[in-house]
Parts: sequence; structure tokens; C-alpha cells
Amino acid sequence: MDIKVVRGDVTKTKVPALIVNLFDGVKEPGGATGAVDRALDGAITQLIDEGEIKGKKGEITIIHTFGKIGPSRVLVAGLGKSESFTRDTVRETTAAACRRLRRLGISEAATIAHGAGVGGMDPADSGQAIAEGATLGLYRFRNYMTSGEDGAGVPGSGGPGSEGPGSEGPGSEGLKDLSIVEQDQEKAASLAEGVEKGSVLSQVAIMARDMVNEPANVMTPTRMAEIAAQVADEEGLDIKVLDREQMDEMGMGAFMGVARGSDQPPKLIVLEYRGDPDNPSNNLGLIGKGITFDTGGISLKPAGGMEDMKGDMAGGASVIAAMKAIGRLKPRINVVGMVAATENMPGGSAQRPGDVVKSMSGKTIEVINTDAEGRLVLADALYYARQMGVTRLVDIATLTGAIVVALGHACSGVMGNDQELVDQVIESGASSGERIWQLPLYDDYREQIRSNVADIKNTGGRAAGSLTAGQFLAEFAEETSWAHLDIAGTYFSDKEKGYLVKGGTGVPTRTLVDLAIKLGRRE
Ligand code: BES
Ligand code: MN
Ligand code: ZN
Repeated sequence: MDIKVVRGDVTKTKVPALIVNLFDGVKEPGGATGAVDRALDGAITQLIDEGEIKGKKGEITIIHTFGKIGPSRVLVAGLGKSESFTRDTVRETTAAACRRLRRLGISEAATIAHGAGVGGMDPADSGQAIAEGATLGLYRFRNYMTSGEDGAGVPGSGGPGSEGPGSEGPGSEGLKDLSIVEQDQEKAASLAEGVEKGSVLSQVAIMARDMVNEPANVMTPTRMAEIAAQVADEEGLDIKVLDREQMDEMGMGAFMGVARGSDQPPKLIVLEYRGDPDNPSNNLGLIGKGITFDTGGISLKPAGGMEDMKGDMAGGASVIAAMKAIGRLKPRINVVGMVAATENMPGGSAQRPGDVVKSMSGKTIEVINTDAEGRLVLADALYYARQMGVTRLVDIATLTGAIVVALGHACSGVMGNDQELVDQVIESGASSGERIWQLPLYDDYREQIRSNVADIKNTGGRAAGSLTAGQFLAEFAEETSWAHLDIAGTYFSDKEKGYLVKGGTGVPTRTLVDLAIKLGRRE
């Protein structure tokens, strides 16, 4: 999909459709919507008076213009109450309007810069949000639909499954051109900057969605490593991929304990971006859980809904995708992206409940439940990142079902040992429209994971399941500044909502990129 900024008068632009907007309760539209209303001899005002247009969030009214003005149709998109207007409103409104246009079979449209006029929003933020809303909202995963245009993917036979994610096609079919029309030259320049950034961010979020949506027979640890290698190649990053033998040798007993049950070779993927080579201490480590399928292992999960566990590598996917954007946008900070990729399978060599494994840190772990595998692979990855010299860690993991009980699908959870870093993560989430809520890590939770036979055990009972998991990770982050994101409730959407569609959400890819950019400015 091509999104561009053009200077001109919206009422004169010759396009099949123009998107304008209206706040809830406004009787006389101002700005660009007002100009369109006047050119249409008050058609919008009249529909407001008649109660057909209310400006409610999500509402879309289509007016045919019959040659009166340049655009053949005007879509009036409701923005909701002006008090609750944010960048996410722009993303959601744009997504809904673009999907409606696609359903109508319209391939080319124009839009006004939502928020950049009366809304008082920075035009760059508006441009970014429009690009993100359009691209993410139109996304579809159809790699295996053999009847449609995009389809014909057969796993393992060189179909789209082996082409790699992030391709333009499926996400943009239908609506191909979107022009943001703006009179003012300065605003237009700033909008264009935002569009550029938003395009990069939404493209990488789509890359993460694709990886989550791919079935586990395609998105193996090996495939994830291949994608990471492609990212490294395209963006000039360093890459290192450790295999089972190397990790065994390095003493990653916690990670290898999980990998034992699977015939798929595990991979520890390490991507490195050097944005501040003269200041090695100015760094950030992004550590992703990459369980390409979580059966639970010997502590086998029930069958119902187990297919969603193909997305248990969503944290890792967001890390690889974020590294691509970081390589592209070049913040002044050094970033290590690490993915601990393996299946969690109940094979003949699988670890058993009661087994004791020795982590790379030297700490021994009693494996009470083989389904608490994420924290095991992350324990070794966190320790390895620290050994590499990373001094600021953010891990991202679909770690616990308990976070879904606590927070539902409305936000991700965050815990950490450094309030400043936690606050920065939350702030980046807020500006990206990927909400994050903090949970506590009290010392009390440590007692729940005390073992009778080893230094620590991998589960802490039913109480505070997300927090005992967080506390477990804390024992491996130790004194290093660290924040942990539990995305088990947000990596996947079972309905179309705003700019989310069914399937992988790409969360928290855009947040991670925003964090790297903001940290790069602070140092
Ligand atoms: N990958 C799961 C957590 C999960 C659940 C992710 C639902 C996405 C949606 C994780 O590995 C897991 O199985 N956690 C267990 C931990 C328990 C055994 C202590 C859980 O949450 O039940
Ligand atoms: Mn599990
Ligand atoms: Zn898992």
C-alpha cells in the first residue's frame, strides 16, 4: 500500500473517496471537514441535524457527491468525544475507514490529516498514526488460502510459507493508494516525516504478526533464525545463531532442558545493532521468548485451544521485527536482540517433572511443571545477555495464563527491578497504543518458588502466577536493570477491533522500537 502526502485542496482532489472526520456532539464541523461541508452546500451539517451523523467513535457515513466536488464520495468518520481523542483514535478511525473502502472495492482514496487541525496534534504524530492505522487495519494473513489471489501456500514446498513474512501483498490488497491532503506546506512536510516512520513501524509489526500467524510446522526455530539472518543482512546488523551443541557446551542447562523433548533443533538467535559504538554502556537488550510451539511438554496441556500455542514465540517475533525497524531508523544506542527459540514437546528425551537442571548462571532449578518452560529458556538468555555486557534488559514473553486472568486482553503486564525502566516501557506502550500495566514484585513471591531440592523451582502454585514467574526471572536478571513484559493476553486477537484483526497483533513490536528511539535520545 502506498501512502503519501499531497498538497492541495481536499474539495478539489479527484479521488473515488475522501475520508473526513467529526467529533461527537459537534453541530458545525470546522477545519477540512467544514470546508467539505460548505462545498457540498451543507450536506454534512444537514445529516448532523437530522441525527444521522453523530460523530460516535467507529461510526462511518458515506455521502455520494455526484460531481459537486472532486471526490466522488465522502466518508465521515466519527472520532468520539474530543476529550478522549488520542493517536490511537486516529489509528482506529483510519483502520475502520480503510476496511470499509476495501469492502466497497475502492482502490484509491484521500484523507484529511486527522487531529492535525482542530485536534491540536503534532502533524508528524498524525501522519504516523494514519500510516499505522491504514497498514495494520488492512492486514490479512492469507498465505494458505488456495482459492484467493494470495494463497497456494503448502508448508515445506516453497510456497509463501518459505518466502518469509513482511511481504507487501496480503496486507494491502484492495485499497492501494492513500493520499493525505494538506494545504499548509510546513504541516505537509511534517506529516510526510510521520508517514515514513509509521510505514516502517507498521511494516515490522506486520512482520511480527506474520510470524505468529504462521503454523508451527513452518515457523520453527530454524525458520526464525533464517528470518533473523535476513533482517541482519538487509539492515546491516551482526548476527550469531547458537545451536544445541554450543548451548550445551556453554552450560545452558535450563534452556536445553526444554529443548530436549523436541526433534526440532533449538536456536539462540542474537542480533546486534551498534548505534553508539563509542559508548558501549549505552545499551539495551531485548530478550524474546521463542517457543515455536508449546505443548506443555510432559506436563501436557489440554487439547482445547492448544493451536494458539503456535504463537508462543510472539515475544521473539517482536524482537526480530523491532530489530529490523531499529536498524532502519538508527537510534543512538546499542541494541542486542536475543531470541531463545525452541519447541516445548513431550518427546522420548523430554525432561520430567522433578528433574533438576543447572542454568548457565550456576543456579539449579527444580522443574516442577514442564509447562512453565518460558521462564527456563529466558533464565539462560537473560544471563547470557548480561555476560555479553548488556546493562539494561527488557524481556518479552507470552509467559503466563494468569496474566490473562488478571488483565484480560486489554493490556500487557510489566514487572521489573528498575522503576525508571518500567516507566519508560509503559510510556512507550502508551504512545504506541499498546497498553501496559505494572504489577508488583514483592519479596513475598520469592518464598513461593523456594525448592526443597534445588536453588529454586519453576512454579509457585496458583497464587499470583504471573508474579512468581516474574520473580523467577528476577533471580536471573539479578542486579542488572530489567523489565519483563508478559504479553500472553495481547499477542493474539480473536476478533477484529480497531486496527487489530483476528490473529497475531504484533504487540509489542512498535513499543520496543519507540523505547529504543527514546532511550537513544536520553543518553
Ligand atoms: N505459553 C504459556 C502461557 C500462555 C497461556 C500464553 C495462554 C498464551 C496464552 C506458558 O508457557 C505456560 O504454559 N504457563 C503456565 C505456567 C504454569 C504451568 C505455572 C500457565 O500459565 O498455565
Ligand atoms: Mn508452557
Ligand atoms: Zn509457553
